[in-house]
Amino acid sequence: MIQNLNEELFSFIKKSPTGFHAVHELANYLTEAGFERLAEGNTWNLAEGGKYFVTRNQSAIIAFKVSRKDYSGFHIAASHSDSPTLKIKESSEMNIENQYVKLNVEKYGGMLCAPWFDRPLSVAGRIIVKDGNRLTTKLINVDRDLLMIPNLAIHMNREVNDGYKYNIQKDMLPLYRMSNSGKAFKEMIAEEAGVSVDQIKGMDLFLYNRMEGTVWGCDGEFISAPRLDDLQCASTMALLNSESDRCIPVVAVFDNEEVGSGTKQGAGSTFLYDILRRINRSLGRTEEEYLTSLASSFMVSADNGHAVHPNYADKTDPTNRTYLNGGLVIKHSANQKYTTDAVSAAVMRCLCERAGVPYQEFLNRSDILGGSTLGNISNAQVSLNTVDVGLPQLAMHSPYETAGSKDMAYLEKAFEEFFKSAIRAEGDGTLVLE
Ligand code: CO
Repeated sequence: MIQNLNEELFSFIKKSPTGFHAVHELANYLTEAGFERLAEGNTWNLAEGGKYFVTRNQSAIIAFKVSRKDYSGFHIAASHSDSPTLKIKESSEMNIENQYVKLNVEKYGGMLCAPWFDRPLSVAGRIIVKDGNRLTTKLINVDRDLLMIPNLAIHMNREVNDGYKYNIQKDMLPLYRMSNSGKAFKEMIAEEAGVSVDQIKGMDLFLYNRMEGTVWGCDGEFISAPRLDDLQCASTMALLNSESDRCIPVVAVFDNEEVGSGTKQGAGSTFLYDILRRINRSLGRTEEEYLTSLASSFMVSADNGHAVHPNYADKTDPTNRTYLNGGLVIKHSANQKYTTDAVSAAVMRCLCERAGVPYQEFLNRSDILGGSTLGNISNAQVSLNTVDVGLPQLAMHSPYETAGSKDMAYLEKAFEEFFKSAIRAEGDGTLVLE
C-alpha cells in the first residue's frame, strides 16, 4: 500500500516535468474519474451531485464536488504546481569558439544550484503555435537526455570546496551540442512539436532533472525524487473523489508559488475567489449564504516543510522537531508567514487524531528567517480559517529532494478525513467538528 503510493507519486512526477504538465496530468486523472471540465469563459450550470474542474493558464487547476446545494462550507486543500528551475531565455543559443553551443537560461525561483551540475537534464514546458489566426498551446517534453551543466574540474579551481558563490549567467548555462552538429534549439523544439519554426510565437520552456524517483535506505525508509515540493501535496487531488456529503470539497493547485504567487494563476490572484463565488451563484444561493458559508469553511494550505537534517540538526528549532516519517507537519510562524493560529492548529490536530495520523509541529529557529508559502497570500483574496501544513523533507529546492516513504500515506489519510468532515462556526467563534 505504502509502496504503491510512492510508485504512483513517482509516476506522476515523471509525467510532470513542469507545472503545465502537472496540471495536464491532474486534469486527465479527474476526467477519467468522471469530473466535468468547465471553462472560465462559459456560463456554468452546476448540479447537485456534479463533479467539476477548471484550469487557468494551463498551470493552475481547481476541482470541486457539489455533494448538495445546502452545503455548510468549502473545505479547500491548496498546493502549488511549480518548482525552482532554470528557464530558457527567448534567444538562447550561445556559440563558444565555433565548437560548442550552450543555452542561455535564467533562474526561476530560489534553487540550490550545486545539484544541477553533472546530471542529465532536458527541456519541458509549453509553446504557442500560430495556425492561421489561431494561437494554440502545445505542451513540450523532450523526453531524452539533452543537456548537461558540467562542473569545472577541481584542478582549475582548487578552492571550490571551501565555498563557492554561483553566478547563474556564468556558471549554469547548459551545454546543448557541438557547433557543427545537431539543430538550432528552436528548430529542435519545432520538430518535437511537429510544427515549423515560424509557427512558434511564444515559449515557456524550463530545464528539468531526468532522474526518476527512488525508494532507498536500509529498510526502504526514504524516497527521493525531483519536485517533491510541491507535487507531493498536489498529487493528493485524487482524493477529491472520496465520499463527502456535508461540505463542498475543493482542491486548488496554484502556479508561481516559487516566485511570489503574484500572477493571474497564482495564489495571490482571484482564481479561487472567482470559482467559489461562481459555485455559490450557480447553485442559486444568495450573497448572504456565500458569506455565511465562508465562516464555516476551512483551508489546508499544503506545501512541504523541513525535517531535522542529520548533518545540520542545529538548524531546526530546539523544542519543535520534525522528522522524516513522523507524519504531517503543522507549520507555525508568529509573523504569520504561515497562517496557522491556535484555532486552525486545533482543528487540524483534531482531524489528524480522528484519522489516526501522526503530526508534528514546525517553527523556524528565531534566528533563521525561513521560507514562505501560499496560505497567507490566498487569504488576502478569500479570507477563511486556514492552517499551513506539509510533509517533512530534506534538501528543499534541490532538483532531487528527499522525504520519508511513510509520510505520503499520512497526508492522504488526513485529507480524506478533512474532505468528509464539516466544521460549523457558531456565533461566538466556537467551531463544531462534524
Ligand atoms: Co513549496
